This record gives sequence, structure tokens and C-alpha cells, in this order.
Amino acid sequence: MSSRSSSVIVSPAARIGGSISVPGDKSISHRLALLCGTASGESVIHGFLRCEDCLHTLNAMTTIGARAHFDSDDVLRIKGNGGRFLQPVAELDMGNSGTGLRLLAGLIAGRPVAATLTGDESLQSRPQRRIAEPLERMGATVELLGPNGTAPIRVRGTLLHGLDYDLPVASAQVKSAILLAGLFAEGITRVHEPAPTRDHTERLLKAFGIEIMTELGVVTLRGAGREGPSLKGRVWRVPGDFSSAAFWLAAAAARPGSEVTVRGVGLNPRRTAFLDVLRRMGADVVVEHDLAGEAWEPAGNVTVRGRGLCGVEIGGDEIPNLIDEIPILTAIASLAEGETRVRDAKELRVKESDRIAVMVANLRRLGVEAEEMEDGLAVRGPARLHAADNINSHGDHRVAMAMAILALQAPAPVVIHRVECVATSYPGFWDDLKKLTV
Ligand code: S3P
Repeated sequence: MSSRSSSVIVSPAARIGGSISVPGDKSISHRLALLCGTASGESVIHGFLRCEDCLHTLNAMTTIGARAHFDSDDVLRIKGNGGRFLQPVAELDMGNSGTGLRLLAGLIAGRPVAATLTGDESLQSRPQRRIAEPLERMGATVELLGPNGTAPIRVRGTLLHGLDYDLPVASAQVKSAILLAGLFAEGITRVHEPAPTRDHTERLLKAFGIEIMTELGVVTLRGAGREGPSLKGRVWRVPGDFSSAAFWLAAAAARPGSEVTVRGVGLNPRRTAFLDVLRRMGADVVVEHDLAGEAWEPAGNVTVRGRGLCGVEIGGDEIPNLIDEIPILTAIASLAEGETRVRDAKELRVKESDRIAVMVANLRRLGVEAEEMEDGLAVRGPARLHAADNINSHGDHRVAMAMAILALQAPAPVVIHRVECVATSYPGFWDDLKKLTV
């Protein structure tokens, strides 16, 4: 493999295998930056993901009064603003990060400050009415300054009141924005989920000692009102990011005879539906829980051994629990025997790119029979891959990495363009790819 500006050439790999630890979980790192940045006292976060997305969130938090520095590459020391947010004088640039923008908007909504949050071209094209509407109903003033309900988003915070809200889409980001606003609201905030989504916010709030409960798809939080919640700094250890691990596990699954172990990875059941799908496809998956680890998030080691894969149906309530793994799943589905269909996944169209359209176009460029549906995609395998010099990530990190893993199986080098976006979530990806391939 060699790289030229923002393009990369991925050469076929004769062997994929080994054991690896992936960097810290992105969703958890974002939430810790926000909550520790709002807490009183100092927190030390081991395994903080030092990627572009999380650094944007951290910078925004320092602009509004937190203080932060890295003791080492992934150990972050952060002193919170104690809930006393400083008024930002300039726009807060959230880069490519939907999580950063939406969750921070929720947090600011309950504080007596006004802020404008914006981001790169991709982030400015993503829908934000989904957070504006509930935050306004809680009492904040939210203006969407971009066309068709997009960022920049101007939030004027105030003393909020609790809200009973039915989420129209299964979204952990919207749920979390409402819960973070609910922390500073008067009264009870209730969020009803149409399907279970990742619950890192709820777990973290519980670990901070906040009264929060989940029952039958409803999350209930008691707000602390004007005084704000009592969040105290402490030491945290972030498990490895399951979504990053998925690339290596998929690489092993797709090649009979290969084996990869990812150590110390987060195993939150609302993140790991990808493993269920790998098993259904025929891969050998072994999970070993670390029983001595952190209580607030499960973690452990996962080993995948490749065997011949078969096509599967993916849809319904499992979608939110593997939403970020769909690019890599559909990439390896092209090597499986038979058809793989992904349904109920319309949300893919409003991620960092339109992942349905972009994945189908890229798979076809490699010779895969793939078809777009309004709410998903179908892939027929096994494909006879060929070389290509026009794979394009469209600035989407997960598309770039998924296509790189598939390219390892092509008979000749594959050129992938616009790969700089990989740094938004997994800056060490290309080095780890070298470590695990020959
Ligand atoms: C995330 C939630 C998901 C996911 C995103 C991270 C989070 O988005 O796709 O990468 O950290 O809460 P939605 O909640 O909008 O589906």
C-alpha cells in the first residue's frame, strides 16, 4: 500500500490475521468530553479517542470554559466548567461530527448562553430539525440557518422544562441531545424509542450518579433545574471502539482460513448486532467478556475465523444496533454466496454521505452486482472482483475503510480517493492495516 495526497492504493493481501487493540470508542469519547467538560473538578480519561471528530468536541468544550490537555497520546485530563458555560464569541466548528453537533446543541440548550454550531460540507447537509423541534419544545430557541433544516444551528439556551417525547426516528444522537438538555431542565424528561439505540449516554449518566431509568423502551430522567446536576470529575477508562474493530473482524470473516482477535473492545449489546449477522453469514465468532473491566460498559476480546460466507437478510430492530457497520457488512457480503438484503435502513442516506448510493456505486466499480433500494441495498455474491482506480469515499470515513478491506481481496491494486476522512474516527487505520496484512 502507498498513499498519494488524499488517495491510497490498496494492494491484494496474501494473508490477513493477528491480534490487535483498536483505539477508544468514539461515541463514548464524545460523551465524556461533554460531561467531564461540564462536571466540577478534574477527570482523567484513559483511552480517549484522539480523532478529528472528538477533538472538535473537546475544542468546543474548552471554548465554553473547560480546560483540557493530553498527558499522553490517549490519556486526557479535563477540568470541567462546573456547569458555568462561557459565552462563545465565535461559531463552534464541529467538523464532520454529527454526534458532537447534536449532543452539544442539547447541552447548551439548558444553559444561559447562545452559540452557533457549524461544521464541514457533509455536516452542513445533514438534517437538524430532529433536534431543533424537541429542544424548542423544552423552551430553547433554535434556529437552523442552513437550507432545508440544516446547520449552522443557533441555540439560545434558557431554563428548560422537561419533555415527554416520542422519537420519530431511532436515533441515539437525538435521544442524547434531549437527555443532556433534560439534565438542566425542571421536572421529568421522558424519551420513547421506536427501537433500541446505543445507550452510552444513559450508562454514563448513571455512572455519574444521575437518576435515570430505562424501561420498556422509555428513558426517564429527573432534571436538576437551574442549579444543574451534580457531576463530579473522576477517572474513566474507555473501551476500544467496536465500529473500528468491525473492519478487522470483517476482513477475517471474508477470507476462509484467516483469524483476527480484537482485544479490549466495547461489547455494549446495542452496538454488537454486527456479530450476530456475521454468525448468520457463517463466520466463526468467539466472544470473551472481560469480567474484571469497567462496570458501566461491557468489554472483552472478539475472535473471528473466516469460513465460506452466505448471504443474509438484515432489517428491523437490529438496524440501529449495526447502523455504522452496514458499509463494511455490504462490502464483505459481495464475497458471500447468494444475496444479502439490507432493509429499514433509510437513515443511511443522511449519514456522513448517502451510504446507500455511495456504497452501491463503489461496489459496482469493483465488479459487484449491487442495487439501491429506497431504504437499503442488495448485494449478490460471490463477486469476481477486478481492479479499479476510481473508488471514492465521498468524504465518508466508513466508506473509505470498508472499501479498503474489500480491496484486500481484489486480484490487483485498487485506488481509493478522498481517504483523508479516515482521520475523523480512526487515524491509525492505515498502520493497523499494514500490521494485519501481508
Ligand atoms: C451515534 C449514533 C448513531 C451513529 C453515529 C454515532 C452516537 O447515529 O450512526 O455514528 O454517538 O450517538 P444516530 O443516532 O443519528 O443514528
